[in-house]
Amino acid sequence: MFYRFVAVLTTLLAIYVYRSGRAVFYHVLTVPNLPEGYFAGGDYRDHCVVIKDEKDDRLNHCEHIIFWDHLDEEDHVINRFILLSCDPGRREWNTVMGPMNDPDPFGDLWIYSTETGSLSPVALTNYPEGHDFHPIGIDVYPSKAGAPSNLFLVNQARENSTIEQFVLDPAQPTVATHVRTLTSSYFVAPNSIALTSPTSFYLTNEHLMTYRLPRPFGSILSTIETIGGPPLTWIAHITVLPDGSIKHKFAALGIAFANGVALSRDGLHLAVASSSLAKVHFYRRDPSTNDLTPDRDVIVPFGADNVMYGDDDTLIVAGHPHFPSFVAAVENKPGAKAPSWAVSIRPIAASEDGGSEGQKISRSKKAGYDSRAPLSASVIAPASSTDEVETIFQSDGSVYGAASTGLIDSRTGIFYLTGLYEDGVLVCYPGPRNV
Ligand SMILES: *[C@@H]1O[C@H](CO)[C@@H](O)[C@H](O)[C@H]1NC(C)=O
Repeated sequence: MFYRFVAVLTTLLAIYVYRSGRAVFYHVLTVPNLPEGYFAGGDYRDHCVVIKDEKDDRLNHCEHIIFWDHLDEEDHVINRFILLSCDPGRREWNTVMGPMNDPDPFGDLWIYSTETGSLSPVALTNYPEGHDFHPIGIDVYPSKAGAPSNLFLVNQARENSTIEQFVLDPAQPTVATHVRTLTSSYFVAPNSIALTSPTSFYLTNEHLMTYRLPRPFGSILSTIETIGGPPLTWIAHITVLPDGSIKHKFAALGIAFANGVALSRDGLHLAVASSSLAKVHFYRRDPSTNDLTPDRDVIVPFGADNVMYGDDDTLIVAGHPHFPSFVAAVENKPGAKAPSWAVSIRPIAASEDGGSEGQKISRSKKAGYDSRAPLSASVIAPASSTDEVETIFQSDGSVYGAASTGLIDSRTGIFYLTGLYEDGVLVCYPGPRNV
């Protein structure tokens, strides 16, 4: 009996080390030797600036950054805005990492014009009285020929996390009109949204054992889930019906800490970050049923937070290379710096002219992939045989920390990065700025 027990335990431990050993070794036990700052497009000192809210200092602790495109009749982008979800009170209220002390101060939505560079908070109208506002994952449908857009966001409200639906009108882009609050017992720990139509979306559920459980279980169990990486989380597909009720369906189960989610431009591919395993899972999507089929995994050199597709279907992934440093920054320990890393992921077949399968594999298996970055991703993550992984930005946290979402505007080459516990938003230009 005893030996059988030991055998079972040893087997479980071996499976655990096989699944999570690499992530735990590199992202919990090893401090990565990152530079102060690095940007792939040139010296970060003259290519990158941190844009701040000079007036009220509220453009802080931003989680998500997305494009809000205005299209003409032929679906050409004629104007591009950027929306941000930020929460200056995140150190007192964060239902993913803790603490949960004070849900009262509202977070903010921001809008930034890529044309004029103007930055403004978005005013909420028709917002339910007494309802908290702590936006994390957001997504908005493009506006076509001046029509209003639906905006959905995950709200870390005090009793439970909800999804808020708003309308944004291009005629008045700094005002979001609240439509409804969606609540469901399926929304255990909703995190990130990827719209599949103006009224339907994929939604990640990032933990099963959440920080919301009674103390002390919430912090202990959710931390065990974060580091241990059991496959307890999922992606759902939600359809909002005209009467405001929802149709919920599980689209992919068995993910370890499913975090950011993004849909490719053609709607045929879905990417989701597994933060605990430092991986991105890619699925093929059936647009008629929203069913997902696992396609491939790509390992990244950090705990992946959010994923965003660019115009050319390159995926930008941002995240946290060292969990203990991130936790120290969350807890505001003196001198704590949370490092940042962002990479692009591009399928090799798409970026290669022809080339046999064998050539593709030998090319990507070359030891020195990502050879330009001061700390190459190849030191931490084994090469992918399917995708090219390249560092766009990295920092030990002194230039810009706690990276949560990266975004590239391929029309201009400008790179944007939000930091979950940073002040302001990092913007890196393809050419030097202040010289
Ligand atoms: C979430 O909290 C709100 C506000 O207390 C409540 O109205 C709603 O029923 C709750 N939802 C669930 C699924 O428990």
